[in-house]
Amino acid sequence: MAEKVIVTREIPASGLSVLEPFDVTVLYERPPERDELLEAVHGVSGILSTATEKVDGEVMDAAGESLKVIANMAVGYDNVDVEAAAERGVVVTNTPGVLDETTADVAFMLLLAAARRLGEGERLLRAGRWEWWGPKQLLGQDVWGKRLGIVGFGRIGQSVARRARGFGMEILYHNRSRNPEAEKELDARYLDLDELLETADFVSIHTPLTDETRHLIGAPELEKMKPSAVLVNTSRGPVVDEAALADALEERRIFAAGLDVYEDEPGVHPKLLDPENAVLAPHIGSASVETRDRMAVLAAENIVAVLSGEEPKTPVNG
Ligand code: GLV
Repeated sequence: MAEKVIVTREIPASGLSVLEPFDVTVLYERPPERDELLEAVHGVSGILSTATEKVDGEVMDAAGESLKVIANMAVGYDNVDVEAAAERGVVVTNTPGVLDETTADVAFMLLLAAARRLGEGERLLRAGRWEWWGPKQLLGQDVWGKRLGIVGFGRIGQSVARRARGFGMEILYHNRSRNPEAEKELDARYLDLDELLETADFVSIHTPLTDETRHLIGAPELEKMKPSAVLVNTSRGPVVDEAALADALEERRIFAAGLDVYEDEPGVHPKLLDPENAVLAPHIGSASVETRDRMAVLAAENIVAVLSGEEPKTPVNG
């Protein structure tokens, strides 16, 4: 009898066709409720999850001894308890590499939109309140030639740096460890976080969410940024203290922010909904047709590999 695999959300068909050898159940377009997930995983060998499901020891135990692999269809895997998986001999995989450019596009889109007040302008226009062109209307910050500070200089951070080079930007970065090769390739300068925040015109965050990066950018860090600076976050919401950011935006202590991720998705801090200088996207970093195809296929291939007794392509704990 074919082994059971549960897919927690509707995913592109390309991914499902990779899973053909298995007895596959696809849950819903919406995220499953916790009790629905706990019931659905019973007896499965593989779970293809997304960032909206918390896959912890309880879920693994609900699946039972049959569980061998959790393939998270995301590069971030803060929603999966990797330690609990290791204790149970379950392999965890993610989807790195296939979404870097797509996510970097969204980071740069938010950077440009926040700097040039696109959201505010569009709201004005759609509300029928655009009365004339004005020499002092909707003045933003130039992007070309400015200083970009990248926090987290992994694959996505480096992809953002490549775009910034095309805009003549000076690249600063902060990372757990220095990367001399990338520094050379992208003409990037390493700074400690405080120096980066003090000197950058734009700060773009690309760290994973870990105990060390939770609220990495809070009130004291926002205080260090220039009043003309723009903050962009396409990583994970809890890396930024959302309440502190909302205050900084409202009080115009920084110029603007472009956000794709939030602390309690799909909830957004109510104070972030008001300031005109917040550009808010609903977690669409990797949301292109091509990239979601690649992510679904890679996650599915990881399941096939583990259930065939082979090494998965992209293990997080392997
Ligand atoms: C999406 O948020 C991802 O981590 O891939």
